[in-house]
Amino acid sequence: MDGNGRWAQRRNRPRVFGHIRGASRISAVVREADRLGVKALTLYAFSTENWTRPEDEKSVLWKLLIKFLKKEETELARQNVRLRVIGEVDRLSAEVRASLDPAIARLSKNTGLQLTFAVSYGSRREILRAAEAFARDCREGRRDPAELEGKNAESVFASYLWTGDLAELADVDLVVRTSGEVRVSNFLLWQSAYAEYTFIEKCWPDFTPDDLRQAVETYTSRDRRFGGVQPSASVSATN
Ligand code: FPP
Repeated sequence: MDGNGRWAQRRNRPRVFGHIRGASRISAVVREADRLGVKALTLYAFSTENWTRPEDEKSVLWKLLIKFLKKEETELARQNVRLRVIGEVDRLSAEVRASLDPAIARLSKNTGLQLTFAVSYGSRREILRAAEAFARDCREGRRDPAELEGKNAESVFASYLWTGDLAELADVDLVVRTSGEVRVSNFLLWQSAYAEYTFIEKCWPDFTPDDLRQAVETYTSRDRRFGGVQPSASVSATN
């Protein structure tokens, strides 16, 4: 959800004004994702690097998360949305946890759209933590290091990532980045190995359900080969 700060500054408003507007965009986008048949949607709300931001900006972001949960939980429940978070949740304040944890628990049995907020999230950190946890399980006899050489090696390792519980839904199909920045910024690096990317000039506070629909349309027109070739291409090559 990039570009909130710039969106506000261009309007001579404080950066947090952009976050407030950005947070207000979320529910309509979630609804549209569900309507489009998206099974899992991850919103990058706060990165491990964002901890270096000024205290007052961070405090507004946490308040917005708490407010979102209070305002939207009933609607998310009605939509059968399962809510998750990924990231270093142990770094979040007791106040944020007190609002987040019960909401996640109450929505945990839902079977519709899997909505994930990435908070205090960094993909390198996620991969390091997965490696640590796997090594610990090996030391304590629950795992065998040889499993990382077997045919299920990737799924074994992926089960240690914060997205492990999503199983096959953890593999990202499409990344939509707003605000004109063309970089990956430590987001779902393992899970996006074969993702399609789309970069949108608009900043997140201007992002609409229709922008999501267009991004998904662009995605469906892409030719995804996962490093292989089309069956027809392989036939013609051997003819
Ligand atoms: C990136 O834009 C955005 C963020 C760091 C925060 C995104 C968070 C929200 C939209 C609200 C949080 C609420 C919920 C419900 C999760 P930026 O500030 O880095 O923009 P810039 O690159 O223009 O400075």
